[in-house]
Amino acid sequence: MAVMQGQAGATRVAVSLVLLLLASLTGGSPPPEPVSCARGTSDCTVTSTYGSFPDRAVCRAANATFPRTEKELVAAVAAAAASRRKVKVATSHSHSFPKLACPGGRDGTIISTERLNRTVRVDAARRLLTVESGMLLRDLVRAAADAGLALPHSPYWYGLTVGGLLATGAHGSSLWGKGSAVHEYVVALRIVTPAPASQGFAVVRELVAGDPDLDAAKVSLGVLGVISQVTFELQPQFKRSVTFVTRDDKDMAEKLSVWGGLHEFGDVSWLPRQGKAIYREDDRVDVSTPGNGLNNYIGFRAQPTLGLLTARKAEERLEENGTDVARCLAARLPAATFELQAYGFTNDGFFFTGYPVVGFQHRIQASGTCINGADDGLLSACTWDSRVRGPFFYQSGFSVAMPKVPAFVADMQRLRDLNPRAFCGMDAKMGVLMRYVRASSAYLGKAEDSLDFDVTYYRSYDEGTPRKHADVFDELEQMALRKYGALPHWGKNRNFAFDGVIARYPAAARFLEVKDRYDPDGIFSSEWSDQVLGIRGSPNVVGPGCAIEGLCVCSDDLHCAPEQGYFCRPGKVYTDARVCALERRRTRLVDEL
Ligand SMILES: Cc1cc2nc3c(=O)[nH]c(=O)nc-3n(C[C@H](O)[C@H](O)[C@H](O)COP(=O)(O)OP(=O)(O)OC[C@H]3O[C@@H](n4cnc5c(N)ncnc54)[C@H](O)[C@@H]3O)c2cc1C
Ligand SMILES: *[C@@H]1O[C@H](CO)[C@@H](O)[C@H](O)[C@H]1NC(C)=O
Ligand SMILES: *[C@@H]1O[C@H](CO)[C@@H](O)[C@H](O)[C@H]1NC(C)=O
Ligand SMILES: *[C@@H]1O[C@H](CO)[C@@H](O)[C@H](O)[C@H]1NC(C)=O
Repeated sequence: MAVMQGQAGATRVAVSLVLLLLASLTGGSPPPEPVSCARGTSDCTVTSTYGSFPDRAVCRAANATFPRTEKELVAAVAAAAASRRKVKVATSHSHSFPKLACPGGRDGTIISTERLNRTVRVDAARRLLTVESGMLLRDLVRAAADAGLALPHSPYWYGLTVGGLLATGAHGSSLWGKGSAVHEYVVALRIVTPAPASQGFAVVRELVAGDPDLDAAKVSLGVLGVISQVTFELQPQFKRSVTFVTRDDKDMAEKLSVWGGLHEFGDVSWLPRQGKAIYREDDRVDVSTPGNGLNNYIGFRAQPTLGLLTARKAEERLEENGTDVARCLAARLPAATFELQAYGFTNDGFFFTGYPVVGFQHRIQASGTCINGADDGLLSACTWDSRVRGPFFYQSGFSVAMPKVPAFVADMQRLRDLNPRAFCGMDAKMGVLMRYVRASSAYLGKAEDSLDFDVTYYRSYDEGTPRKHADVFDELEQMALRKYGALPHWGKNRNFAFDGVIARYPAAARFLEVKDRYDPDGIFSSEWSDQVLGIRGSPNVVGPGCAIEGLCVCSDDLHCAPEQGYFCRPGKVYTDARVCALERRRTRLVDEL
C-alpha cells in the first residue's frame, strides 16, 4: 500500500516538476537595486528588496558611491569622515526587514558593496578563503566548492551578501561544532573605519583570530565601519543526506530538545493548524556516498509575474472577505504542494525519485534561482519583488534559549488549541521554521544555545489595515520576547520586537566600547541603530494604529483600530501580552455555518 502510494506520489511529483521546470525556463528578472538616485549618483533613496520598511517610509541620502577596490572604499569613507557626514553600506539587494540600510538623517552617503564581490585569496592547504564583502552567498559557496572546500553552515537563501549576513548574525541550523551562524567561521577580516586627519580620515584595520575586536566586528549591524574583506576557515568538501519526515505535533516540544543533537543540519517546520511537524533529517555523509542531489527550494524560484499577481489578489480577497473556513481550506495547499514536490529537492538536479537526497554541500546548503535568470522583462520574478504587486509579508524571527524551548512550545500549542483556525495564516506560509543556533563569542551574537523560530505572515499594502487573527501572532511574539527572553533576528522583525532587547546581550557594553573607538563621531550610526542599541530613543513609534503596524505594543485602544472593532486586550495564554483583538463584528460573517 505504502509502496503504491509512493509510486503514485512520485509520478505526480515528476509531472508537476516537469511543469515547474518548464515554467522556470522562461528565465527570471534580477531584483531591483535598493539604491536609486534621481540625478546620477546624487539625490538618492534606499529601501529594502521588499520596497518597504516596517514603518513604510523610504530613506533618503544625498549621494551614493560604488567602490570597486578597497582603495576606493577607503577614499569613500575618508570623504564622509572628513566632512562628518552620515554614511551607510547598502548591498546589492538589501534583504533586511528593519531600517538597517538607511544612513542617519536625510543627507548622508550610501556606500554600495555591489561591485566588491571578488575572491581575494584561496589557501586550499589551510582551508582559508578570503572574499570581498559584497560577494553573494551564492558565489561564496561556489568559490569554496571550486577549491574543494565547504562552508559548513549558511542561511538557506543565497541572495544575501557576506557583509550583510554577517552584520545581522545570519545562520542556518545546527548545534554541532561551532554551530550554524556564518560568523563562527570568520577567522579574519579587514574593516575600513574613520580616522583622525593625521591618518587621512580613514584606516583599514586588520582583525585576526584572537583579537577581541573581531567579536565586535563579526556581528556589527554595520555601525563600526565598512567591512572590506572576510577570511573564512572552511572544511573539506562533504556530502549531505536529507530526508523530510512529516509527523503529528503531539511530542514536538520534547522532540525539539533532542533533534538538534541527533542531526547535524536538522530543523523542524511546524504547521500549527494541521497539527503537523516536518522533521528535516539532514546529516553529513562521506563524499564517496553516491548521489548528486540538488536543493532548488520552490519558494526561492522565479515565479511567473501573472501568477504572483493572481495569488496576491486571491489572498487579499480571503483576508478581507473570506471566512476562517475558506482561509483554512486555502492554507492547506502550499504545504501539500511543497511536500509533494519534495520542497524542490531532486536526486540528480532534475528529478525527485525518493528520499534520502544525497548531494554535495554546495548544492544542498542554500538556494535562490530567482536571482539567476537573464532579464526576462519582468515576466517572472522572485516572489517578493517590489515591482510586482504580488505577495507582501512580514517575517519575524526570534531565538529562545534551549532550556526554555519545551515550555515555550507548550505555551504556543496551548494558544493554538484555543482556536486552531486562527493559525491558518501560518500554515499558509509554510508554518513556523525552527532552526538551531549555538552560543557565540560575538558580542551581538546569541548568548546561549538557542532555537530560532521563523514566521512569515500576511502584510497589507494599506497602512493601518488590521490582519485577521493578528492577535495570536502578536501574542506569540510578545510571549517569546518577554516571557521567554527571546532575541529577535537583527535582519527580520517589526519595530516593537527590538524594544529593550540590547539589555539581553551580556556583552553589549563591550560592543559599544569598540564602536566608540572605531567611529567616535558615529557617522556609521543611524536613528535605527541608535534605537536598537539603546543609545538614543526607542524603536517603537507610538501613535494611532501603531500596534496594527507592529510599530508598538498597544497600551491604549487607539493603538489598534477601535473604529474597525479592534481593541487593545490582554493575551489569552500569556496574559501580560497586549494585542489588538477584534470584538465587534462589522459584517455578518458566516464562519459558523
Ligand atoms: C528570502 C530570504 C531568506 C532568508 N533566509 C535567512 C536564513 O536562512 N537565515 C538567516 O539568518 N537569515 C535569513 N534571511 C535574513 C537575512 O539574513 C538578513 O536579512 C540579512 O541581513 C540580509 O543580508 P543582505 O546582504 O541583504 O544585507 P543588508 O540587509 O543589505 O544589510 C544588513 C546590514 O549590514 C550592513 N552591511 C552590509 N554589508 C556591510 C559591509 N560590507 N560592511 C559593514 N556593514 C555592512 C548594512 O549596512 C546593514 O546595516 C533571509 C532573508 C530573505 C529575504
Ligand atoms: C556627496 O555630497 C556631499 C555634499 O554635497 C559632497 O560633499 C560629497 O563630496 C558627495 N560625495 C560623493 C561621493 O559624491
Ligand atoms: C560580481 O558581480 C557581477 C555583477 O553582478 C557579476 O557579473 C560577477 O559574476 C560577480 N563576480 C563574482 C566573482 O561573483
Ligand atoms: C471585499 O468586499 C468588498 C464589498 O463587497 C469589496 O468592495 C472589496 O473589493 C472586497 N475585497 C477584495 C480584496 O476582494
